Amino acid sequence: MNVLGIESTCDETSAAIVKDGKTILSLVIASSADIHAQYGGVFPELACQRHIEAIIPVIEEAIKQANMTPADIDLIAVAKGPGLVGALLIGMQAAKGLSISWQKPFIGVNHVEAHLYAAMMGDHKPIFPALGLVLSGGHTLLLQIHDVGKYTLIGTTVDDAIGEAFDKVGCLLNLPYPGGPLIEKLAIDGDPSKFSFRAGQVKRSPYDFSFSGIKTSVLYAIKEKELLEQEKKDIAASFQHAAFIDIIKKTKLALQQYPANAIYLGGGVCNNLYLRALFQKHIPEFPLFWPPKHLCLDNAAMIAGLGFQKYLHTQEGDPLDLEVSARIPFA
Ligand code: KG4
Ligand code: ZN
Repeated sequence: MNVLGIESTCDETSAAIVKDGKTILSLVIASSADIHAQYGGVFPELACQRHIEAIIPVIEEAIKQANMTPADIDLIAVAKGPGLVGALLIGMQAAKGLSISWQKPFIGVNHVEAHLYAAMMGDHKPIFPALGLVLSGGHTLLLQIHDVGKYTLIGTTVDDAIGEAFDKVGCLLNLPYPGGPLIEKLAIDGDPSKFSFRAGQVKRSPYDFSFSGIKTSVLYAIKEKELLEQEKKDIAASFQHAAFIDIIKKTKLALQQYPANAIYLGGGVCNNLYLRALFQKHIPEFPLFWPPKHLCLDNAAMIAGLGFQKYLHTQEGDPLDLEVSARIPFA
């Protein structure tokens, strides 16, 4: 089954053709991150303007790169949320329009769930029960995965998402948006023990995350002074280490309570190689499944993949009055 995936939740306009939920025949991504760089975060109106310009050419290119025509496509999958409502509507309207004109079913999928599915698109047969971690710009989720589509929420953030914390610390260090990848780069030559930052602990919720306090600690460490390049690197390394160690500690704790035979991770922050190395070092006894690098950030291949799985399960598409949603409870 050939599925056209469409993604437009935030600042990436993407389309992909995926066969049977796993084989990526094409993947096209147009990012508007360049225009948001100067604002320190995503500027929703500008993101929408770019989505409108890019959505049709990106879909056309994905079909072309897969050497297909619309007649070869069996299903259209689209991210229905969570995300920026204006941005979501552009992908949703495109999916509905194509569904009507091509006479093909369409299905809406949860973008955050798709981030997790990206780690299951490899050759292996997924291992359940498992723990799942979504570490992205908008989410920090710790879950138990019983099956694709069946989850128990273990922990989430009570304030900033992990990627958001990276981007805000990036701002404090005068780095352009998104700060995450640049902090990883700076941290390579920094000393992670130079500053004793700590992520927050949430009273009576041992699995929940809080990253707003650590961001304030970084602010105090900087104290509006001109930083030497080495100080910047040490702050980046110390912040990155403290934030990731917190995630690892809570994952290890969850493994004691929730049966799991593997760990699946997804979301833009999973691009970070220091994070991958820390997990390998601290939790060597569990198989760790990371998405390939090109499927960590927002992309339509994971949307098409998950859309296939959902359709396989329900055997029917969504009605044409399906709405987008800025927030969707995950589990
Ligand atoms: O999953 P994603 O593309 O978007 C959301 O659904 O939110 O994640 C984007 C986030 C941004 O906050 C970005 O700074 C972060 O992922 N990110 C990283 C790295 N690459 C991207 N954070 C830390 N280290 C990285 N290498
Ligand atoms: Zn995302």
